[in-house]
Amino acid sequence: MAGITDWPFRTLARRYGADLTVSEMVASQAMVRHTAKSLKIAAPYPDGAEHGQESLVAVQIAGADPEVMANAARMNAELGATLIDINMGCPVKKIAKSHAGAALMRDERLAGRIMAAVVAAVPVPVTIKIRLGWDDQQRNALNIARIAQESGIRAITVHGRTRAQMYHGQADWQSIAAIKAGISLPVVGNGDVTSPQQAKELWQLSGVDGIMIGRGAIGRPWIFREIAHYLQKGSELPPPTWPERKALIENHYAQIIAYHGPVLGNRLARKHLAWHTRGLVGGGQFREQLNHSPDAESTGRLLTAFLAGIEES
Ligand SMILES: Cc1cc2nc3c(=O)[nH]c(=O)nc-3n(C[C@H](O)[C@H](O)[C@H](O)COP(=O)(O)O)c2cc1C
Repeated sequence: MAGITDWPFRTLARRYGADLTVSEMVASQAMVRHTAKSLKIAAPYPDGAEHGQESLVAVQIAGADPEVMANAARMNAELGATLIDINMGCPVKKIAKSHAGAALMRDERLAGRIMAAVVAAVPVPVTIKIRLGWDDQQRNALNIARIAQESGIRAITVHGRTRAQMYHGQADWQSIAAIKAGISLPVVGNGDVTSPQQAKELWQLSGVDGIMIGRGAIGRPWIFREIAHYLQKGSELPPPTWPERKALIENHYAQIIAYHGPVLGNRLARKHLAWHTRGLVGGGQFREQLNHSPDAESTGRLLTAFLAGIEES
């Protein structure tokens, strides 16, 4: 997720049971221009010590020019990506206008050329992330999936909505099941899974090979281990204890500041801390204070005081 699944967030997700995490989408045009932001998104390891954390380093690229996409994929592979994912699901207007993201699904020929070019460019597996189609009149996900299969794509993630739906309505898991039934490639189902029970329902309904969680992991990264436990054992794992949750929040904050530096880090940390403290006693007041916290030091102090307060109450 753009703006969310940076390296600290992915580390957290993996620590709490995610088998595979994917970078934020990186614009292929920016990547080949070596912009600092794109290189930061793509950089798999800020320091060697954490090397074991992401055994598969999946970087998602977006764009509409086969050659630029191939070059961006190559650069990522050279930087250490061990899996390249092509974005064909982003609904944002600015992206669609340039024929990238979900707009690629409207041009099956171009989508096929991009997939073939990227597959040919890198020695690592290439996957795609799609929606059900552009709108209800153009639900061509199965066509795209078949083209993917012929192009050497190794797995497909399907978000069960059309582009026209953006994030509204309910994800259509039946349509994910139809795509799974129609191709032999591994399919990862995605959309509106926020509990172990829902994960099981999607899995049983569709037979998907994997489940992708987006928004359900925000502020609740332990959802991954909850799901794994429920699918394997059939029982619910208790939620994390307060000491564990406190350590998680402190750790995430420290990693954000260390990875992004104090200025950008403070801005990003405020967002994540707001998510982490949803539903906690006094969380509303804490978030209000966070909004006015000018720098990382003051955010750190606010956080320490807030967490200590919870411990006492
Ligand atoms: C803030 C935000 C940013 C997102 N950025 C991306 C992205 O960069 N690449 C992508 O493939 N999907 C992106 N998505 C879509 C999610 O990966 C996912 O397909 C969608 O949210 C549905 O799954 P969920 O219900 O589990 O969140 C984004 C979603 C949100 C809410």
